[in-house]
Amino acid sequence: MRDILRRGRLSSDVEEGTAKFTSSPEVDEWIFESVVLVDRAHVVMLSEQNIISKDDCSILLKALDSIKKEGMAGINLAYEDVHMALESKLIESVGEEVGGRMHTAKSRNDEVAACIRIALRGELLGLMHELIELRQVLIRLAEGHTETIMPGFTHLQHAQPTTFAHHLIAYVDALERDFDRLCDAYARVNLCPLGAAAFASTGFSIDRERTAQLLGFDDIVENSMDAVSTRDFSIECMSAFSNIMTNLSRIAEELILWSTPEFDFIELDDRYASTSSIMPQKKNPDVLELVRAKTGSVHGALMSVLTICKALPYSYNRDLQEVTPHLLKAIAITRSSSRVMAGVVDTMQVKIDVMRDKAEMGFTTATELADTIVRETGVSFRTAHQIVGALARNGGRTLKHIDAISEKVIGKRLSELGLSQKSVDTALDVMSNIKTRKIRGGPAPEETVRMIKIRKGNIAGHIKNLKRKTGKELGVHK
Ligand code: ARG
Repeated sequence: MRDILRRGRLSSDVEEGTAKFTSSPEVDEWIFESVVLVDRAHVVMLSEQNIISKDDCSILLKALDSIKKEGMAGINLAYEDVHMALESKLIESVGEEVGGRMHTAKSRNDEVAACIRIALRGELLGLMHELIELRQVLIRLAEGHTETIMPGFTHLQHAQPTTFAHHLIAYVDALERDFDRLCDAYARVNLCPLGAAAFASTGFSIDRERTAQLLGFDDIVENSMDAVSTRDFSIECMSAFSNIMTNLSRIAEELILWSTPEFDFIELDDRYASTSSIMPQKKNPDVLELVRAKTGSVHGALMSVLTICKALPYSYNRDLQEVTPHLLKAIAITRSSSRVMAGVVDTMQVKIDVMRDKAEMGFTTATELADTIVRETGVSFRTAHQIVGALARNGGRTLKHIDAISEKVIGKRLSELGLSQKSVDTALDVMSNIKTRKIRGGPAPEETVRMIKIRKGNIAGHIKNLKRKTGKELGVHK
């Protein structure tokens, strides 16, 4: 049989090399199950609307079932795409009189958009699971390190002491926002474009809400021209993936640095490390380096899609096919990166003593000393900043040193104004630095314990929501 698509309008098959050029087999495979689902829902709706007969409907559904069972292996990729391959197979198996009715009131344009949305929402739910797991691993680790003192950095220079838990909660909060962004995107992905047909909808009295409902969509994409033309839902998801990858790359970079002898804060588990082919002593953080690098690939994919969609005239253009491989690549990378990151963090060894020893290096308590001077003597913060700055430069740390400097700066000794050696000692103690920072969001153990509790509650809530979404989505696939 000649190609059911070309036999009317075109006199020949497509040139062989060109067929490859216009096809997109990896996407076809990705959406294969969704194509079957969409065809099934469409056929059921057509029959309910008396557009096709009940008998034809059951023949078509049976044929679609066996096509699904055979899977991609039964699909002839010589056709223009999976939609044509599947319809051709259906017609071959049940004949054109019945099989030829399936495409009534449907175009590949609304079908492919629906299929991408179905496949994508499944991936989004998978990624949400993976992000939850990573957040759980991080929060568990934080729970054990609310009193683990470490240096905090600005400009990658020792800045102020903090705790490892405080640092880890920063990661958790970034990933929680990423999770929220995925949920927001999900709401705009889970809308059904079916019924838009080519773009101008159809004169058949189809029921768009019914197909949407059968496929587990929350609603339809109303304007039929918009429905087939837009890929902004993909762009939105890829922006969220890009953000996730940026966050993962920052964690990766810190873990890479922390596993060097210069920092020596952590040791990666051997399962997540590599070695050198020539230098036998090497233990390398290749996994984390690849997370860092793959971030670039996801950002690149987003840029590609934005550029493909830019200035595209309405409605459907084949350009839109070129969007999907980038989407697919971006989601696959983001999901695998989230998974490996959870493994790395869950298995790494934390060197508490090294962190503690390095927490004081670089006069990290200087801010607290300046604050103490303000509180005890009443001089302005800027004056205290100057005095402690000079102290940092000169190297002294006692009240005597401070007095010598303040005499030069303000003509008075701070001890005369009420500064005691005891309060200087307290200011210079890293743990008391941390304990005084107990305001909301600060590193004091009591505050990080409170933050951990809230985050655990948020994670539990997200797991519940996700179960609800997944249940609905799985109902469709059954
Ligand atoms: N495979 C195409 C895509 O992914 C769908 C086919 C629509 N093609 C067309 N020429 N109208 O966008």
